Amino acid sequence: ATERTALFMFFGGTGDLAYRKLYPSLFNLYHKGNLRSHFAVIGTSRQTLDDEKFRAAIKKSLADSGERADSKEASDFISHFYYQAHDVTDTAHYSVLKELADKLDKKYKLQGNRIFYLSMAPQFFGTIAQDLRSQGLMSDTEEAFNRLVIEKPFGRDFDSAKQLNDALSKSFDEEQIFRIDHYLGKEMIQNIEALRFGNTLVESLWNNRYIDNIQVTLSEKLGVEERASYYDNSGALRDMVQNHIMQIVSLLAMEQPVAFTDTDIRAEKVKALRSLRVYNVADAATNFVRGQYGSINDQADYRHEDNVPHDSTTETFVAGKLLFDNYRWSGTPFYIRTGKMLADKFTRVDVVFKKPLVDIFAFPQAPNAPLAANVLTIFVEPHAGFSLQLNAKTNDALFQTEPIKLDYLVDAEKSKETPEPYERLLHDVLKGDGTNFSSWPEVSYAWKFVDQIRRVWDLQEPQFPNYTPHSMGPAAAEELIQRDHREWVYRL
Ligand code: BG6
Repeated sequence: ATERTALFMFFGGTGDLAYRKLYPSLFNLYHKGNLRSHFAVIGTSRQTLDDEKFRAAIKKSLADSGERADSKEASDFISHFYYQAHDVTDTAHYSVLKELADKLDKKYKLQGNRIFYLSMAPQFFGTIAQDLRSQGLMSDTEEAFNRLVIEKPFGRDFDSAKQLNDALSKSFDEEQIFRIDHYLGKEMIQNIEALRFGNTLVESLWNNRYIDNIQVTLSEKLGVEERASYYDNSGALRDMVQNHIMQIVSLLAMEQPVAFTDTDIRAEKVKALRSLRVYNVADAATNFVRGQYGSINDQADYRHEDNVPHDSTTETFVAGKLLFDNYRWSGTPFYIRTGKMLADKFTRVDVVFKKPLVDIFAFPQAPNAPLAANVLTIFVEPHAGFSLQLNAKTNDALFQTEPIKLDYLVDAEKSKETPEPYERLLHDVLKGDGTNFSSWPEVSYAWKFVDQIRRVWDLQEPQFPNYTPHSMGPAAAEELIQRDHREWVYRL
């Protein structure tokens, strides 16, 4: 491993995400040698804590995530952590942070490299970015880097996202901004590029001549849990479609990048998103459906979850059809769906190929079941792998065909070694590799698409609740695809 040098500053440093994901991920990078002696971490939040208490909390976070928190390695790692209480809206506070940052820079020889990680309410992103620059927290030497990492939600529509982006852009250039989409840190999402651009067999068929439709399903088994105050203001369309699903779809739809670099990959993703058809009112209404879960047994319906208003019209389920107006995809729809309180927790992509133009086995003397479509499935989670459904002859005297599957599943041992998304993404930030982050143009095209759906939905009072917990969503999600004489590959 190559050792990297940086000062991390976590705003929202005592938050759930930091303790659950970020610090354990940094520890893994430390363990693997990507971080060693030349790094330091400043945690900030409004809480009053001292270094000692903060370090105890880090130790607990490592223990909770299954690390050996009392090892010498862990205590060496933890000794690099510092805490500074900070009110992000108080400009004077930034000078205290600056002093600490400069001190740690000298102590650990950090060469001025700084990573500012904003893991807190987005309404403060703009102020923080501005004060980081105006109060001199950003390094101004040529060789040093300044990088800003932000967590979603990145706005709640195009206009607010643009406002936020304009505010950030006053302090940071686009190459310095790393917008986290943790789905891009997942092994099998990254594998889409290997599968497509590493295989003639796949890429030569990857178009509207051979692919009938593509289905992307992000299914969640849990309900809204403790996050209702955030979720009820967001809904599935903003929470999952605008970011994760749009990112997955753009990787599936893009042209081959010139080279495997962040600039080239982003350029192709942006081109793909530009050719995504933005619906007019009528098409948005027919091509997207929403749902909200009802109750079953002792499971409360969404409207009776804690902190959800009893008349909430927030959707906990979305299904939709996406159309690309370009040479590769014209006429081949992408169907997407996601929701809470569904049958199971999994993410998968099903690529459904066209059937042979002529089915020579369906001769009248020996009626064979009609040929099944070839389906390539990418299993993202919980199991990682691919499956390819083909037609083959049954092993008997008659000439009959049946669908068979070629399966590749990553074995459990290997899966255990797979780095967590946050570890990968933090590593990428350290390397300055923006491949697996959302660029501003991607975010903005995704919002423009989603805004149109939202606009139509906001005109009409939905009939909620409309789906049973542990199902695959409302009947309308079935109708959406059946209308096109197709069906979801994954069905109950
Ligand atoms: C988050 C959403 O971005 O992704 C959550 O805000 C959702 O609502 C989560 O539960 C799903 O992520 P994963 O990695 O568990 O599939």
